[in-house]
Amino acid sequence: MNVLSVASEVFPLIKTGGLADVAGALPAALKPHGIRMRTLLPGYPAVMAKIGETTRLGGFDTLFGYPAALLAAEHEGLDLLVLDAPALFDRPGGPYLDPQGLDHPDNFRRFAALSLAAAEIARGVLPEWTPDLVHCHDWQSALAPVYMQHGGAAHVPTVLTIHNIAFRGQFPASTFPELALPWGAFSVQGVEYYGDVSFLKGGLMAATAITTVSPSYAQEILTPEFGMGLQGVLANRIADLHGIVNGIDTDVWNPAADPHIVSPYAAATLKKRPANRDALRERFGLVATDGPLFCVVSRLTDQKGMDVLAGVIDMIVDNGGTLAVLGSGDPALEAAFRTAAAVHPGRVGIVVGYDEPLSHLMQAGADAILVPSRFEPCGLTQLYGLRYGCVPVVARTGGLADTIIDANEAAVAANVATGFLFSPVSEESLRLALRRVFSLWRQPKIWARLQARGMKSDVSWDMSATRYAALYAGLLAKG
Ligand code: ADP
Ligand code: GLC
Repeated sequence: MNVLSVASEVFPLIKTGGLADVAGALPAALKPHGIRMRTLLPGYPAVMAKIGETTRLGGFDTLFGYPAALLAAEHEGLDLLVLDAPALFDRPGGPYLDPQGLDHPDNFRRFAALSLAAAEIARGVLPEWTPDLVHCHDWQSALAPVYMQHGGAAHVPTVLTIHNIAFRGQFPASTFPELALPWGAFSVQGVEYYGDVSFLKGGLMAATAITTVSPSYAQEILTPEFGMGLQGVLANRIADLHGIVNGIDTDVWNPAADPHIVSPYAAATLKKRPANRDALRERFGLVATDGPLFCVVSRLTDQKGMDVLAGVIDMIVDNGGTLAVLGSGDPALEAAFRTAAAVHPGRVGIVVGYDEPLSHLMQAGADAILVPSRFEPCGLTQLYGLRYGCVPVVARTGGLADTIIDANEAAVAANVATGFLFSPVSEESLRLALRRVFSLWRQPKIWARLQARGMKSDVSWDMSATRYAALYAGLLAKG
C-alpha cells in the first residue's frame, strides 16, 4: 500500500514539537505492515539545507501562481517529497513564525499550498507514484481532503490526525477567495467556521477518518472543555473518530546507545546513570542535594501548565529538590523561571531555547520529569522519561493519563506503577503529588522499581502501527 503522509514538520529535518517526532517515525513503524509511506513537507531553508541530493519530479510549475516544484529526496530512511516553493517557504524564522515570533502573515496561503500539492499528488500528477491513501496531520495539511473532494481525488481515502485541536488554522473570510475552492465550500459542510475559514474544521468534515493521538483525548475533544469549539463537528463524525496513542522512535531514544548522554545505561546497569546526573547538574549550575533532581523539557505555554509549576518551585526547593528547565515560549513564563533561578541559585536552573541533544541528557540525568499540562493530546516527553528511567510526574489528562500508571499503594505493591498522576491541574494538587514523589524517592528500593518498571513499558510504535495499518486497510476495503 502506498501512503502519502503530509506534515508541516518532520524530525530530523525540522521540529517545533511532537508532531515532527510522530511524522518522522511513522514511515519506519509502518514498513513492516507492507506500507510504503512517502512524506510531503515544505521546503523551508532548514529542510533544503539538510536533504542533499534531490530529483525534480514532474507535477506542477506553480501553486496559486507561485513557482513550485516537487523534489524527491531520501534522508535517514525517510522517503521525502519536498515542496520547493521559495516565495512561500524560503524565508527566515521558523515553520510558522517570523524571527520576531509573529505568525507569517501568509500562513493560510503557505499551508493551503502544502494541502493543494498533496491533493494534486493524490489526483495522480506524479507520473510514477500515486498514493492509495493520504494521511494528513493537523490544520497545516487539513485542507488536503477538501481539495481532494473538489479536485478529482475524492476516490482516495484520507485520514486526518489531530495532534492538537487548540490550533484550528482559523483565518478571516477574506482569505477564502484565495484558496481556489468552489464557493460552495464556504459553508457549514465545508471550511466555514463562525464566519471565518478554519482549515481544521474543513478537514474534519471532509476526511474519511479522523484520528487523534490518544484514546482519552479522543473522548475529551467531544466535550466543550477540550473541543475548542469543534466538539459539535466531531460529534457528527464520532463513528469515524479513533484514538491511537503515539509511540516513540526507540532507536533515537535509547539510553543504552545515546550519543547525546555522557554515560549510556540500561535497566540492568542503572548504576551508570548518575554520571549523567552529574553532567546535567554541571550544565545547569545545580548543586548536589539530598533530594530528587526534577526536569522539564517543554514549550513554555499555558497548555503545558508551566505557570502552575512556577508556583510550586519554593516547595520543591524547601524539600531538598532541584529543578532544571529546558524550554522556550511565553516571555512571561521564561521570565518567571529566570527569576526562580536567580532566587534559588544552585537549586533551580533554566536554559531558554530549543536544544535537542540537551533534551536527551535531561531524560538521562534527572530523577523525574514534570508534565503538568492542562491538556495533552498525547505527550512524548513522559514516554522518553519512561524509557530513560526519568520518572514521569504528570497531569491526569489525555495521553498522559493513558500512558502512565500512578504509584498509588496498590500499584506500588503490585509493581505496576510507572509514575505519578495528579488532578486537577492546580498548585495544591501538584504539591500533593510532589509530596508523594519526595516520599518514594527517599525509599531507594521502591524508586528503583518504579524506574525499572517504566523502562520495561512498551513505548515503541509496535502496537499503534498495527492499529494505523488496520485503519488504513479498513478504509481501502470500504473504498
Ligand atoms: P508538544 O508537541 O505539544 O510540544 P510533545 O510532548 O508531544 O509536546 O512533544 C514535544 C517534543 O519537543 C519532545 O520531543 C520534546 O523533547 C521536544 N522539546 C520541547 N521543548 C524542547 C526544547 N526546549 N528543547 C529540545 N526539545 C524540546
Ligand atoms: C501535539 C500535542 C502533543 C502530542 C504531539 C504529537 O503537539 O500537543 O500532546 O504528543 O502533538 O502527536
